[in-house]
Amino acid sequence: MNKRDIIIPVDELTEEELTAAERELVEAARKATQTSYAPYSRFHVGAAIRLSDGAVVSGSNQENVAFPSGICAERTACYYAGASHPDATFEMIAIAARDSKGEPTAEPIAPCGACRQALLEYELRADHDVPLLLAGRDTILRLPSVRSTLPVTFTEF
Ligand code: THU
Repeated sequence: MNKRDIIIPVDELTEEELTAAERELVEAARKATQTSYAPYSRFHVGAAIRLSDGAVVSGSNQENVAFPSGICAERTACYYAGASHPDATFEMIAIAARDSKGEPTAEPIAPCGACRQALLEYELRADHDVPLLLAGRDTILRLPSVRSTLPVTFTEF
């Protein structure tokens, strides 16, 4: 038996340590939390994606009284990007959230498993790493790629 460790390098950054482009994307994700429709969870998530054609596309969680019919912010954003800019590829993704009091979450939030798989599809299409910025109020985590969040990955059948 061989044993392997999978190590994910994560940068922990303050707002000031972000590049201008990263800060702009984090701001877009934070702004997108305002468009969240979350009457059931009262947890408001925003995601923003920078595309290779220069566009920034954002999305938010959209809930439904039939709970599983709702969708997360990340999938709203990535499917909207795919549908509205079919020839562009993903460059970077930012995610932010506000709690039930409407306050930015102190800690960064991470995409759920289904969203990781959905985002991975677009990273594979881009054929290069797509960094993820997970923005808390005070701390921002930068992960090198979507794949790093799903290190043992389903990519073909
Ligand atoms: N949610 C997201 O939009 N993204 C995530 O990564 C985690 C969870 C949403 C789904 C639901 O509307 C609410 O947050 C509570 O789970």
